[in-house]
Amino acid sequence: MTKATARAYPNIALVKYWGKRDSTLMLPLTGSMSMTLDDFPTTTTVERTPEAAADHFELNGEVIEGEPLRRVTKFLDLVREQAGIREFAAVRSKNEVPTAAGLASSASGFAALALAASKAYDLSLDPADVSRLARRGSGSATRSVIPHFAVWRAGDDETSVAEAIDAPDMRMIVVVVNAGNKEISSREAMKRTALTSPFNDAWVSSTEQALESMMSACADNDFTRIGRITETNALRMHATIQACDPPILYLAPTSLAIFNKVRELRESGLEAYATADAGPNVCVIARPEDADAVAAALVEFGSVRTMAPGPGAELLADSEAL
Ligand code: ADP
Ligand code: DP6
Ligand code: CO
Repeated sequence: MTKATARAYPNIALVKYWGKRDSTLMLPLTGSMSMTLDDFPTTTTVERTPEAAADHFELNGEVIEGEPLRRVTKFLDLVREQAGIREFAAVRSKNEVPTAAGLASSASGFAALALAASKAYDLSLDPADVSRLARRGSGSATRSVIPHFAVWRAGDDETSVAEAIDAPDMRMIVVVVNAGNKEISSREAMKRTALTSPFNDAWVSSTEQALESMMSACADNDFTRIGRITETNALRMHATIQACDPPILYLAPTSLAIFNKVRELRESGLEAYATADAGPNVCVIARPEDADAVAAALVEFGSVRTMAPGPGAELLADSEAL
């Protein structure tokens, strides 16, 4: 095959990945756990272009250069090396998720690219192999290959892949506060955290514990414990990031207002828990039967979409190529 199209969805971590042990192999400092969404997909077509002198990257119909193109080329270099094929490629991608807004576009983006590129370059990979490959594009993409709920163990180059984990059915209410690009990418902010945040060691040890507690809460089907671990872990990540020098504030006043509102909802008997990635947008988990009431309580803060656990990365027919 010389052309292939794949789709993948963002995932939102309930126990966050924030920090790298090895930034070449993209090995994380800790394991993490996430829910893959069923909306906001990325669709990506990769077509080998034997005549071209460089890779070409289009996102949402615009030709992209600079750092995002370099990230795509670096990723395709790995695929080319594994495949033993030197040809450049044209990559056309469409994000339904806001790009670089803290809603995991790098996760859906590199999961879709990993699957489409591996097919276009004739690699025959199973889902664990695609997850391992996607990791090299963006750490969080490791988990978007897997449907529903995924755990990504820290591991080494071979074992640092995501796998499915059972968790109680839930909904994620995504509140888009600001769909604009963040000023500092996750990658930059992660580096600054490791270099300058005095809370980094505590972040790492508390996240290792959070992941073990999360695994046992999932095994017990215990939504309440899952929710508590999720919210605490998210706020600890933001505290660690805010302690950088110079500081980084991803949460906006409206984001904090949503965290407060979610606590009030709990106090009034509606169980929900909030989390936020590296951006101002907030994602709230609730039991399926409570999702409509939680969504209704959050519309005052932004545009609200309720999502269920979604599919893993999937290949599409040629008729859906971009
Ligand atoms: P986010 O919170 O959206 O994941 P990041 O800072 O982690 O933000 O990553 C944003 C970067 O991910 C973009 O600047 C671009 O380099 C890359 N990216 C996003 N979408 C795609 C895509 N569809 N294909 C390839 N790369 C993408
Ligand atoms: C806050 O995977 O976007 O969303 O590996 O450098 O591409 P790179 O960073 P990225 O970081 C994700 C950070 C997070 C938490 C998470 O998804 O686990
Ligand atoms: Co990202």
